[in-house]
Amino acid sequence: MKNLWEISTTEFAGGKESLMRRGNVYQLANGYMGYRGTLDEFGPDESVGITLAGIFDRVGSAWREPVNAPNGGFTRVSLDGTDLSVLSGKVAQHRQTLSFSPAVFERETVFSLRAKTLTIRSSRFLSADTPNLGVIEFSVYCDKAANVTIRTGIDCNIWDLNGPHLLQLAAEKQGEVLLVQGLTSENSKRVLVAEVIDLNFGVEAHESKDDRTLRVISWRAEAGKIYTFHKYFAVVTDNDLVGKPIQSAAVKMVLRAKALGYAVCLKKHRAEWAKKWERCDVEIEGDDEAQLALRYSIFQLLMVAPVAGSANSIPARALSGQVYKGAIFWDTEMFMFPFFLHTYPEKAVELMRYRIKTLDGARRKAQTEGPGYRGAFYAWESQETGDDACTYFNIGDPFTGRDLRTHFRDKQVHISGDVAIALWEYFKLTGDDSLLLEGGAEVILECARFYYSYAYFKKEKGRYEILDVIGPDEYHECVNNNAFTSMVAKETFVIANAAVEHLRKKHPAALRALVKKIGISRELADFREAARLLYVPAPDPKTGVIEQFDGYLKLREATVEELKAKMVHPNEYLGAGQGLAVPTKVIKQADVVMMLNLFKTRYSAKIKQANWKYYEPRTEHGSSLSACAYALVAAEFGDLEFAYKYFLKTAKIDLEAKYKVYVGTVFMGGSHPAANGGAWMTAVLGFGGVQADEKRVVINPRLCAKWKTFQFNLAYKGDGFRIKITENSVTITSPTTNVRRHKILVAGSKTVCAPGASVTVKYRPTKH
Ligand code: BGC
Repeated sequence: MKNLWEISTTEFAGGKESLMRRGNVYQLANGYMGYRGTLDEFGPDESVGITLAGIFDRVGSAWREPVNAPNGGFTRVSLDGTDLSVLSGKVAQHRQTLSFSPAVFERETVFSLRAKTLTIRSSRFLSADTPNLGVIEFSVYCDKAANVTIRTGIDCNIWDLNGPHLLQLAAEKQGEVLLVQGLTSENSKRVLVAEVIDLNFGVEAHESKDDRTLRVISWRAEAGKIYTFHKYFAVVTDNDLVGKPIQSAAVKMVLRAKALGYAVCLKKHRAEWAKKWERCDVEIEGDDEAQLALRYSIFQLLMVAPVAGSANSIPARALSGQVYKGAIFWDTEMFMFPFFLHTYPEKAVELMRYRIKTLDGARRKAQTEGPGYRGAFYAWESQETGDDACTYFNIGDPFTGRDLRTHFRDKQVHISGDVAIALWEYFKLTGDDSLLLEGGAEVILECARFYYSYAYFKKEKGRYEILDVIGPDEYHECVNNNAFTSMVAKETFVIANAAVEHLRKKHPAALRALVKKIGISRELADFREAARLLYVPAPDPKTGVIEQFDGYLKLREATVEELKAKMVHPNEYLGAGQGLAVPTKVIKQADVVMMLNLFKTRYSAKIKQANWKYYEPRTEHGSSLSACAYALVAAEFGDLEFAYKYFLKTAKIDLEAKYKVYVGTVFMGGSHPAANGGAWMTAVLGFGGVQADEKRVVINPRLCAKWKTFQFNLAYKGDGFRIKITENSVTITSPTTNVRRHKILVAGSKTVCAPGASVTVKYRPTKH
């Protein structure tokens, strides 16, 4: 039987691009850092990367991006004087495995050289218990006696896209610990790597060569004997709360790990992962392909979830490298946040704290992006301060090499509303208003303030309009009355009013303090008016189609295939000034359909179907965010076959590493956590039909024919449930640790689930 808790491959070579893709598929992460799925002996040419969360740097006028640390996991072996690497062509066998529980990467390679074989086995993890720590077990075994040398230590040859970021890199040895430290070029933040090993064979010498600080262990290996050592490395930066000075904190950390030993470190790591899976796993019986792909997606999200207390968020390419400047986009709130909110609310809190932390950056952006903007205009590409990393010329033209003017930064204003919506969802589904008091309400009010300053009051129509924006479909820029953006802006006003009402009732003193702090009292009446009078394009009374923006329906008809056939360069960008899609109805990704999905209770299934039918054939799905939005809506109106196809496409994007690596001249090779979140949403919210609000949880199952049982957990108002769906029944189990009786509506039947109870409700399956 196939193991659905791991992936493995025997492939190891290929060109730079396949090494890069494999590095994404097999990556490890622990929220603090990512370690690409590369092999011990690899270097920057093979895209080794230890990417750190929340620390960024800029070199000259190049793009700001996250810092990659020196590689404390480096090890290279030589057999009778010949250096071994899988790329050297002496490989008799190779297998590498990524296990999901716990997150461990393993490789076993047999090298065959001059009638001898040498086997390397290594196994590594980034501790889920101690975020700064990486741990490796490394073994060597020869079938005949041989002279073996292991070089292990810290490799300072760093794979950077726009580096070098670490200046004055200096190595030293402090007792048994190897240390490397450097300073980021922009803010002089220290990044430090400490490494120690335990060794009970060979003689160790020290070597500093080719920007590596290494231990050289040489010995005569006996035939058939396994030689094992363990390696502990820690990465720390000035951002960390690990105690000062950070150097002694790092040294202490690795020495402590060494004292505990590999087995104990692994046990602690395993225990943390067991807790994560207990809360977040989804089980699908009857469909191994879907099970593996979905579990892998969940695994990716769990690995990159921010460390508790960090107030970091998840970049659009997770921690798989420096792609997309390591920036946080709307992807987090709209595609990843729902997974955490429904399964692991503590992580949802962290994601929201990041937006609270970066509120000042959003305020600065409103002021500088002007004219006359006020409040919080969140960055399209956000880094640690919330200032926008997105440039006005954000895509390179592959024909001329020149940068193309894009308006992602200045016109994709829906980002502020996406943040406000996520904050409010958190409050609705958890009932916990502490985030609002911690700064969440301030964020919401500042977002509303921004939209009020952005909106235009059209006197002749007596309504506010949101003009000159980009919706999720980035191929059509500077458009008026984009349905998605206007809806999100309107909702922000509604939420701002509701947040004020909540504070007025429950925390009047906090409301007074907030109103005073941000000087907002007179504007509250404006927000009430805008919530009523902001125009959102409505479904056409005859066709049900919502026009994506003013004039969209008059654009030229074209199919995606026609446009693709006209492309002169494979990486050509279809949007921006001259892009092929600009004069046509071809859209990059779900836009109106994304809106229908986000506000699903406000539109009928008929409207959803009409828009889905209209827009899907005109959608390029040029973003990994698109397919799941169409799958979710299709599941709702009953096209389960389509929903399933797009679910799988979304769930497998990282597993199969089939994605564009360049857009224009911009390198894009990284993983896709938004699609991972989209896969979870399609499964649980789509096929499971889960819809929760502040009053109750609704479950309207629409199970795929193949799925015999479908089980998942839901967190709701501080409690949790286990839900099991079969073809005709839903069983809800409420653990004894729950404190409330919850109302759950299963396929229209009201159910009350008391703590410790398990209720089964029969339903009639949807025909498909
Ligand atoms: C998509 C955006 C997305 C970004 C990061 C772009 O290709 O169009 O919607 O936020 O990628 O994933």
